[in-house]
Amino acid sequence: MLSQETKNIIKSTVPVLEVHGVTITSTFYKNLFSKNPSLLNIFNHANQRQGNQQTALANSILAAAQHIDSLEAILPVVKAIGHKHRALGVLPEHYPIVGKELLIAIKEVLGEAATPEILNAWGSAYQVIADVFIQVEKELYAESESGDGAWKGFIDFVVDKKVVESEKITSFYFKKPDGSHVAPFIPGQYISVKIHIGEYDHIRHYSLSSVPISDTYRISIKKENGVDETTNGIVSCYLHNNIKVGDRVQLATPAGSFVIDTSKDTPLLLLCGGIGISPLLSMLETTLEKQPNRKVTFITSNKNAKLQAFKGELKKLSNTPNCKVFIGYSSPNPLEECDFTGKLTQEILEGFIQKDEIPTTDVFICGPLSYMKSMNNVVSAMGYSADKINYEVFGPLAPLK
Ligand SMILES: Cc1cc2nc3c(=O)[nH]c(=O)nc-3n(C[C@H](O)[C@H](O)[C@H](O)COP(=O)(O)OP(=O)(O)OC[C@H]3O[C@@H](n4cnc5c(N)ncnc54)[C@H](O)[C@@H]3O)c2cc1C
Ligand code: HEM
Repeated sequence: MLSQETKNIIKSTVPVLEVHGVTITSTFYKNLFSKNPSLLNIFNHANQRQGNQQTALANSILAAAQHIDSLEAILPVVKAIGHKHRALGVLPEHYPIVGKELLIAIKEVLGEAATPEILNAWGSAYQVIADVFIQVEKELYAESESGDGAWKGFIDFVVDKKVVESEKITSFYFKKPDGSHVAPFIPGQYISVKIHIGEYDHIRHYSLSSVPISDTYRISIKKENGVDETTNGIVSCYLHNNIKVGDRVQLATPAGSFVIDTSKDTPLLLLCGGIGISPLLSMLETTLEKQPNRKVTFITSNKNAKLQAFKGELKKLSNTPNCKVFIGYSSPNPLEECDFTGKLTQEILEGFIQKDEIPTTDVFICGPLSYMKSMNNVVSAMGYSADKINYEVFGPLAPLK
């Protein structure tokens, strides 16, 4: 338990740390990797270069500090991060290493302003926050390692099939080498792929894009071409270019809290842009199969038909009762047909949904951050309630506001 005095120090230093948060976490990562280079096997190097991981860590520590009196308020966020930590293999013994480097970084950046009292208070607060993460992750490890088809850490899978879905997206089907059951997943969850490329292991999360199948996982991967060779996406390009049917790739069990609640039968509004289609297609197909009476509206946006994945699959599903599928292109090529052109605006969306369903509808959004921010504005303006709006960032956590 933290004393009131410690809590007061934490709260009074949050504004200062807010100003320096990203500098502190950047310093922290620099020191962390120079002293513990093996951690470069679990951290995403591109997220480090672009700074979004530093921001995510700074934001989450500050959010925890602001809620130091009532950490249960941030439990949903801790769970989302805990899923990622669990999928990556973060363990309790890593926490003291991170805690030590965080304090060193605070001291390095704040200089004299970081008095022994402030550093002691942050040391104690980090311990409390770390204990919450460790507990959440302990439960996630136990859950993910038990039950039919489950396993521990990363194990080999064989690529059973590769299917081109659009100009940039290819689906990969994986089976266990002995063909036995895979661990089940909830639509919306992701699996993590670990590949050794060059000097390091690289781990990336990929949403499962089909209905749960007993012995197979399907993920659908966009090839992330950069502006040149040095900025090409490491893992997505490697999978597209080098991994063939029959090759082995290491996978961790399904994770993630961006999931539909199949015990409810309230309407679903699924909005996706680009590769954001992966988790939402799984939600759509599973709902149609398992809850045929549940109403679901699925709207996908892309630049044009060449970039739209799963057109055939979506066409078939659009003929199912209770299901409405709309495809939009922002700049279609000549003769490409779609349900709307340009961005999905409030006016267009109002034409696709039933107004009386808004209060009970669960909304799921996935796509580029700019797309999700714009969709969040649209659905919020239409009266969908914030606690029913869910989204998944295909990168470090980020707010939509
Ligand atoms: C929960 C979750 C689910 C996901 N689901 C999917 C999914 O279903 N399908 C999917 O395709 N992806 C998904 N992703 C994203 C995926 O995990 C990877 O982030 C993605 O494939 C890119 O990885 P990469 O190794 O190819 O690129 P990285 O090497 O990690 O690079 C990331 C991006 O940064 C760019 N970049 C690299 N270096 C620089 C630089 N120096 N300057 C500027 N830009 C640079 C790259 O071009 C690329 O676009 C998901 C992510 C999360 C967190
Ligand atoms: C209380 C302490 C910690 C907090 C508050 C924290 C917070 C976060 C946050 C906010 C993210 C971004 C989540 C996302 O990608 O959506 C993250 C990711 C991550 N964390 Fe932690 N974390 C903590 C401890 C640790 C520890 C001890 C390790 C192990 C060394 C670790 C390793 C990672 C890794 C590898 C990622 C993914 C980053 C990437 O590859 O981009 N974290 N963490």
